[in-house]
Amino acid sequence: MSILSLDQHLKGFYEAEKKSLLAFYPGLTIHRLRQDIKLHAFLNGVDSEELFEFPYLPHRTHPLTIFFEKLKVGTPLEYITGYAYFYRSLFKVTSDVLIPRSETEILVELASQEIKRSYKNKQCRVADIGTGSGAIGISLLMEETAQLDMVMTDISEAALKLAQENFFSHKFAISSIHKTTFIKSDRLKDVPGEFNLILTNPPYIKKSADMAGVHSQVAAFEPHLALFLDDDIYDQWFNEFFTSIHEKLVTGGVSLVESHENHLEAQAEMARKIGFSEVVLVRDYTNRNRFLKLKK
Ligand SMILES: C[S@@+](CC[C@H](N)C(=O)[O-])C[C@H]1O[C@@H](n2cnc3c(N)ncnc32)[C@H](O)[C@@H]1O
Repeated sequence: MSILSLDQHLKGFYEAEKKSLLAFYPGLTIHRLRQDIKLHAFLNGVDSEELFEFPYLPHRTHPLTIFFEKLKVGTPLEYITGYAYFYRSLFKVTSDVLIPRSETEILVELASQEIKRSYKNKQCRVADIGTGSGAIGISLLMEETAQLDMVMTDISEAALKLAQENFFSHKFAISSIHKTTFIKSDRLKDVPGEFNLILTNPPYIKKSADMAGVHSQVAAFEPHLALFLDDDIYDQWFNEFFTSIHEKLVTGGVSLVESHENHLEAQAEMARKIGFSEVVLVRDYTNRNRFLKLKK
């Protein structure tokens, strides 16, 4: 049996598995796969231009064999490489956290505009509730020059630990004028003090009613705690959450909430009843309702 180079193996693998690969990873090209393999190799200490010319023996313990096997069953690429791109950085991800999505970058942009508009040269106390990998809070800490007092929370201890890891691996890109605290909490229940800005991308998919719209790969691999709420507690959960956001915001403070296109109108109405002075729906890149801007 002749030993193939990694490049020859990859071409054969891609052609043989193309149909199922494209079902799991719409638009996946061999070029993108090459880049992910390069990143995977680089993060595992192999940084070589000749990587794809090296002979590749598909032994079951070879890290790339594990890579190919995980692809075959549809494991998200980010969980295979262990990293996801978000905003301007790379974040470590594990199956304990949601893979940060590109639409959530809009929430960071909105928050950044708010900070630049209202807190130039002033301190701004910010909360990132349900921080997961820490992508939202850490992106802002890296971006902003106004002094941020950032509180990052999650109900999941494993998620909070990973957010802390990501914080420490980005700490050289974070100005020392900012202060950062990590708190384990159910929404805002154990979070002390008031905030100028409360950011959140909470679990917002109804476990039954919205399930048909969830890609099977998402439901199979991403943490359900990050995605779903039971249908029967959904409205009450958000009502309690928005009420506590209202209590914890200073007058004039703003909350930016990512949520489900099918439920945002009802959630906007809920927020008006709670007493927010301004409630605005914001669309995402696909022109769907995706965010609420709530002002106290
Ligand atoms: C949709 S993910 C968002 C993760 C990250 N902020 C992002 O945008 O990629 C929701 C996060 O909320 C956390 N979470 C779920 N229920 C929560 C609760 N009751 N209180 C606080 N965090 C919660 C999950 O563990 C998860 O990390």
